[in-house]
Amino acid sequence: MKRILLGYERAGQCLTFDEYSGNNGFAALRKALGEMSPAQVQQTVIDSGLRGRGGAGFPTGKKWSFVPRDLPGPRYLICNADEMEPGTYKDRVLLEQNPHLLIEGMLLACYALGVEHAFIFVRRGYELAAENLRQGIAAAHRAGLLGRNILGSGFSLELDIHQSAGRYICGEETALINALEGVRANPRVKPPFPAVKGLWGQPTVVNNVETLANIPAIIARGPAWWRGLAATPEAAGPKLFCISGHVANTECFELPLGMTLGEIIDGPCGGMRPGSRFKACIPGGASTPYFTREHWGVAMDFDPVARAGSRLGTGGIIVFDQTTCMVGATLNLIRFFARESCGWCTPCREGLPFVRHILERIENGRGKTDDIEILREHVRYLNYAFCALAPGAMGPLEGLLRLFGDEVKEHIVRGKCPFGNH
Ligand SMILES: Cc1cc2nc3c(=O)[nH]c(=O)nc-3n(C[C@H](O)[C@H](O)[C@H](O)COP(=O)(O)O)c2cc1C
Repeated sequence: MKRILLGYERAGQCLTFDEYSGNNGFAALRKALGEMSPAQVQQTVIDSGLRGRGGAGFPTGKKWSFVPRDLPGPRYLICNADEMEPGTYKDRVLLEQNPHLLIEGMLLACYALGVEHAFIFVRRGYELAAENLRQGIAAAHRAGLLGRNILGSGFSLELDIHQSAGRYICGEETALINALEGVRANPRVKPPFPAVKGLWGQPTVVNNVETLANIPAIIARGPAWWRGLAATPEAAGPKLFCISGHVANTECFELPLGMTLGEIIDGPCGGMRPGSRFKACIPGGASTPYFTREHWGVAMDFDPVARAGSRLGTGGIIVFDQTTCMVGATLNLIRFFARESCGWCTPCREGLPFVRHILERIENGRGKTDDIEILREHVRYLNYAFCALAPGAMGPLEGLLRLFGDEVKEHIVRGKCPFGNH
């Protein structure tokens, strides 16, 4: 398959600006500024069927179309490079290898949206990614691809990097906007959605790194070509799948969207590690319900994964073998979510530590039969939280109760973890 996101990969090294430019880099920008109107760029993105790669899979062109064009004052684009979802590291790989692709994608998005000032919100600790971006932005300025009157087109853009203070909630788009404004990073009420009222009260689009990095290829090669990179007619384009856990190859792979789970694990992942048998996986980052062997044939694309009871999420696949205690694995994830709750709303602030407490006692052999029903109720209640953090945290718990109910019961009946964890 032709790789468009990681195609320039050179082991452990970042592509230089000259290498990128010499390899058709910024050709899409030149094409857009020379031959296309902003509305045509937006329509091309709509036609491609690109869906956001940050977790929710919202159609990108449609999101852009919500931005009002007649309001006074600036509009903003923010690239979400917060990437704190456990099991997800695709944006880091992309930025460490080729920051220029994101810069070109943002230039195209800003041209389409009429944005003259954009931001990249980078996860704390992604120092190399931030440094690569700084160098890429400086090189683009020197080449006249950022700043005033780019390539004589009349279009101007400034791009700024903001390094996060480091909380998971900062990845939620409205909390991210608050963080960027320098106030407490809790989520905002929606509506109004950021596309209408976002950063400093102005229309703002928030898009993920991988989403924006796909745009140069869509503009340069056309929407039909890009769509066709997927494995099924229902899917559109390529996807970065970042793999961890008990498989032979734990890497970030660029693959056709819509390959089946089994094809991904037996193919690029090289199968399970010696001695390991597949038991389950998290298909799309820590906030998605588990898949088991029965899901081997599910196409890894937004709608098929949802129909099978989970979410494609970020494409961060964590694979577990037969030695994994699923109660312990879920507890590990819930500990993360409980710690990262921003505390803004009661269901999340109080509910997640309580769920952690119940799971801890089950795992430690002190669980009660009623605990299973209490956990089920929390899966329901936490859906009433203010933002998607707590419902997301309930993803693996819901999967645990639905797919591994017997394992949970065994912990309670035997009064200990059957996997010998405690
Ligand atoms: C708790 C939480 C954390 C999130 N973290 C990220 C993140 O790190 N990166 C990201 O792109 N989207 C994240 N999102 C989703 C964003 O709110 C938003 O939907 C996304 O950035 C939109 O980009 P896209 O349309 O290109 O997918 C998070 C959402 C929630 C609820």
